[in-house]
Amino acid sequence: MDKKNIAVIFGGVSSEHAVSCVSAQSVIDNINRDKYNVYMLGITVDGKWYLFEGDTALLPKDCWLDTRFITPAFISPDSAAHGITVLRESGCEIIYLDAVHPVLHGKNGEDGTIQGLCQLAGIPFVGCDHLSSAMCMDKAFTNMTADIAGIRQAKWRAVLEYEYIKNPEAFLEEAVAYLDFPIFVKPANAGSSVGISKAKDMAGLKEAMAIAFKEDKKVVLEQFIDGFEVECAVLGNDEPQASTVGEILPAKEFYDYEAKYISGSTGLAIPAKNISAEKIEQVRSAAVQVYKALGCAGLSRVDFFVEKQSGEVYFNEINTLPGFTSISMYPKLWEASGVPYSELLDKLIVLALNRA
Ligand SMILES: Nc1ncnc2c1ncn2[C@@H]1O[C@H](COP(=O)(O)OP(=O)(O)OP(=O)(O)O)[C@@H](O)[C@H]1O
Ligand SMILES: [Mg+2]
Repeated sequence: MDKKNIAVIFGGVSSEHAVSCVSAQSVIDNINRDKYNVYMLGITVDGKWYLFEGDTALLPKDCWLDTRFITPAFISPDSAAHGITVLRESGCEIIYLDAVHPVLHGKNGEDGTIQGLCQLAGIPFVGCDHLSSAMCMDKAFTNMTADIAGIRQAKWRAVLEYEYIKNPEAFLEEAVAYLDFPIFVKPANAGSSVGISKAKDMAGLKEAMAIAFKEDKKVVLEQFIDGFEVECAVLGNDEPQASTVGEILPAKEFYDYEAKYISGSTGLAIPAKNISAEKIEQVRSAAVQVYKALGCAGLSRVDFFVEKQSGEVYFNEINTLPGFTSISMYPKLWEASGVPYSELLDKLIVLALNRA
């Protein structure tokens, strides 16, 4: 059997650049080399593209940016190229690609931009298409779609900065009357809890709005749900499958960037330990419902709250390119559901090729 050429794209112009490099290291180390040739395409934080030909141990902390191992390169939008254009000193080289696996998180990677490029180039890729990626990245569009699909979620409001600054008091008073304190304030497009705060009073709310507007021109406000935080991994194209459900056991007040990646103070329970088997089934079916409503393909991790008092399942958010390190929730959920990490990577590539 001929080996397929796969490009793993990592890094990116995103607040989650560092996480992407760690995810990519795990992905590249675990792709089945009997079936696939792997090319590593790195994007720096300021947007330069390079083919990286060194050891994957150099990926974390941007140690891969070493002139001995990198050559300017990019995915050409020209569908005749169907691959990577490498600008070698000796001349231009084209590497034909069968598929791209974007291991990018957040802006400029999870938001439909890379997906659009692959679509122009006619190269199959792992994960959701440009439209679905963009919808899932933007919390206002996600929430709007979930409302239309009849999926239960926290009450919410969204506002654009230029509207907000016309009369902040009027907007906030109406929002507080509708949502009640505490209120979660989030940039519509960010990820990894960057720019998110929990406001307990009007002064805190104003501050939270200012913090969120630093990340995006659109901000989403949400009613606080006092619940267990659970996540479900979905895999597939037309007939998506849901994994078992995992639970986040936070040490801090909420699952923020620090808790997630720095202090390591967050525990995971797989399967979720604070909710019943019946709730687990409800979460799994809601996860598939959300996935289909947003037109997802390949993979997504769908996150929920199970309200402590009522047991109701509330949709929180969906991540189309979830963290993929060996300790990340998405691959761990599939491992617990009988799909080991390498096999999962293979399934994702096959799903990409089948969709094309
Ligand atoms: N409406 C809410 N009620 C209660 N807690 C919330 C609410 N919204 C967010 N949180 C808390 O804040 C955290 C971050 O919010 P959210 O998941 O929406 O942001 P994110 O930055 O997109 O996260 P991710 O890194 O998963 O992409 C959640 O994991 C949860 O702990
Ligand atoms: Mg989240």
